[in-house]
Amino acid sequence: MSRKIGIIGAMELEVETLIAAMTDKEKVDYAMRSFYIGKLEGVDVVLARCGIGKVNAAITVQMMVDKFGITDIINTGVAGSLNEKIDIGDIVLATNAVYHDMEAVAFGYERGQVPQMDVFDFKTSEELVEKAETACKKVNSDIKVFKGRIASGDQFIAGKDIKENIKMWFDPMCVEMEGCAMAHAAYVNGINCLIIRAISDKADDSAEMDYPTFEKKAAEHCAKMVLEMMRNL
Ligand code: ADE
Repeated sequence: MSRKIGIIGAMELEVETLIAAMTDKEKVDYAMRSFYIGKLEGVDVVLARCGIGKVNAAITVQMMVDKFGITDIINTGVAGSLNEKIDIGDIVLATNAVYHDMEAVAFGYERGQVPQMDVFDFKTSEELVEKAETACKKVNSDIKVFKGRIASGDQFIAGKDIKENIKMWFDPMCVEMEGCAMAHAAYVNGINCLIIRAISDKADDSAEMDYPTFEKKAAEHCAKMVLEMMRNL
């Protein structure tokens, strides 16, 4: 079966860059979002911005599966670092994703566990992680790449206490607001998932200030990486 790659970008500039690079392009609007269908470097893709948060993320992946038959989903965006070795500007490739705001401890579930699901964390595709790492080293050779867990939740983390709690509960590399919902949607649909996050802040008191400064650079790095990956799929 030939591949069709769903690409969900968080940043306006990044999505604009990728749309401009698309050929055989068509735009379709559903559910208050725009989907761009066409080719990137000869690969069939569907591209969209999903909006913020887990519900927007899951809706967008499910629509890409149902309406366009994607076989893989790639999510790019920014994240706050939760590991002192990972600095602003570095890139994290998720190997697995958890919800930091899922909590049914009263019913005997471990914090983060979605009740009645057969997995605790949602794994990403090893093949795509490897391809993303290779692509990043080639086109963004001055940037450090890390591989590991990400944590997602409907909250912008910008404070010491919540940051320390999430570290203690899940020990993730970074925190953001969509990735786990996309990996979850990919899991239930049996498709491959990749989450690429550029670190924009340290998820502490300075987070709101660092974020806008870094967004432009992150968008450039992510767009370059995605294009290089398409050339090697
Ligand atoms: N995305 C980028 N930085 C973030 C943070 N600190 N918390 C949640 N999502 C983010």
